Amino acid sequence: MTDRRQLGLSGTEISLKPDEIIVTKTDLSGKITYGNRTFFKFAGYTEKECLGVQHNIVRHPDMPRVVFKAAWDTIQDGREIFAYVNNRSKNGDNYWVLAHMTPSRDANGKIVGYHSNRRAPDMKIVNETIIPLYNHYLQIERAAASPKDGLASAYADLQKMLAEKKQTFNEFTLSLGG
Ligand SMILES: Cc1cc2nc3c(=O)[nH]c(=O)nc-3n(C[C@H](O)[C@H](O)[C@H](O)COP(=O)(O)O)c2cc1C
Repeated sequence: MTDRRQLGLSGTEISLKPDEIIVTKTDLSGKITYGNRTFFKFAGYTEKECLGVQHNIVRHPDMPRVVFKAAWDTIQDGREIFAYVNNRSKNGDNYWVLAHMTPSRDANGKIVGYHSNRRAPDMKIVNETIIPLYNHYLQIERAAASPKDGLASAYADLQKMLAEKKQTFNEFTLSLGG
């Protein structure tokens, strides 16, 4: 088994209070252009360390790639997405959020960047539904011959699950509640 410390993880989970909202904005390539104080508090980075840096600075190694593909596909297509995300702080702590991501447009409707708000999720939903589901996708992604194949297989599996449920990704996420 991989030593979690080798992945930069402390093993400590921290959580947002019900009235805390993490906000960030990015440019079209996903580089951070704005973060609120709550973002810097949870990420553990200063504003200077984050501005102009890819948002994967808070990526947690246990997040399946398929979730980020679904998110990017959706926002680049001009739509919003809701997704449960596990993030890693600079010191290796982790924190789960329910994220809403959306494109930002200029006066002509052109997408000029992206915007995300996150709040504390219901940890019962995270523990009982999201973690098992994400572990399932991680397993598919890691078992494949290449990262590309793994992502394609996980994506096909996700689409099959949604088709069986007759739900979109957002309908599925929001149907869980919390
Ligand atoms: C507005 C916006 C907010 C994002 N927020 C997060 C976030 O909180 N955590 C995260 O891991 N990725 C976030 N991402 C996705 C990252 O850009 C990236 O796709 C993800 O971390 C996967 O990184 P990787 O492709 O290097 O594996 C966000 C992207 C955008 C456009």
